[in-house]
Amino acid sequence: MKFKVMGVSAGRKDSNCDILLKEALLACQEQGAEVTMINLKDYDLLDCTGCTSCTMGMSMGKHTGCALDSKDDKKKIMDVLLDQDAVIFSAPTYALMPSSLFLKFMHRNLAYETAFLTKIGAIQPRDRIGALIAVGGSTRSWQSMALECMQAATFSNSFKIIDMFMATMVPAPAQVLLHEEKLARAREIGENIMKSLKTAPAERKWLGEPEAGWCPNCHSNCLCLGEKQWRGLQYPIECAVCGAGGDLVKTDDGKWKFVIAANGLERDRTSEEGRGVHCDEIADTQGGFFMDPQARATVAERSEKYKAIKFRGI
Ligand SMILES: Cc1cc2nc3c(=O)[nH]c(=O)nc-3n(C[C@H](O)[C@H](O)[C@H](O)COP(=O)(O)O)c2cc1C
Repeated sequence: MKFKVMGVSAGRKDSNCDILLKEALLACQEQGAEVTMINLKDYDLLDCTGCTSCTMGMSMGKHTGCALDSKDDKKKIMDVLLDQDAVIFSAPTYALMPSSLFLKFMHRNLAYETAFLTKIGAIQPRDRIGALIAVGGSTRSWQSMALECMQAATFSNSFKIIDMFMATMVPAPAQVLLHEEKLARAREIGENIMKSLKTAPAERKWLGEPEAGWCPNCHSNCLCLGEKQWRGLQYPIECAVCGAGGDLVKTDDGKWKFVIAANGLERDRTSEEGRGVHCDEIADTQGGFFMDPQARATVAERSEKYKAIKFRGI
């Protein structure tokens, strides 16, 4: 059976994201994959309304779907996307992070949490992998959260990210065509996707640059000071993307290195077990609120004051 590989672009039509994605997908097609590609600009996509009916349904073991399912194209895309072995996402960097179109599309993934859909039999179990391409007009400095936000947005669908590429210094439409090395790196993304698909799921590893990023777990470049988490867990330093916890250690050659603690992957957001702890947190904080009539009555009463305040709008 052919592997199914899909490309999702959020860039300008026929511009840098599309071109790099096509280069990666060509490599997959040449190795026998069945390839699909979409550009999100061709679809009607609404913002998540924050109604939380999906998560409330999940905490009761019920599949409510998304309240917007019949109102736009998200479900149509997800029916295909969740039936893939691999997905390559390609997004332009706007204001240091992926564009709002990419984020709008991905934030709706909560209603398609694969751990839940698989558990209730709505979709077949699958070991999905993914790769990311971020494109920007500047250097890494001005794309500082691009790949990190893209990876964070893939968690709900359990895509194991096996490679990432940041294409820098290509502000003009299709300008990447002047850079053979960037096209070659995009092609390598496709080759790595195929290499990973041909490897047994339990053996699949990171295939990007071995030393990429600060975090040895998810290869992000974003670390932050740890603060007390739900139920008290605290690390000196955390990866802002996967949540790995540990500390900075000086190596023999005088460089700093992020070393993950023995219990540092307890809440690893790239794993379904790690995200499960967050689901327990939501059940406790949000679920706990809805189950507490006294708390709900207090909020309803105190809300009246703020509802009555009407500042002039524009
Ligand atoms: C609103 C806006 C904000 C942008 N912000 C950044 C930025 O913060 N960093 C960067 O490197 N490039 C930035 N760019 C440049 C785009 O990332 C660049 O043009 C890229 O090639 C777009 O990809 P595309 O050609 O596939 O659409 C910005 C472009 C726009 C339109």
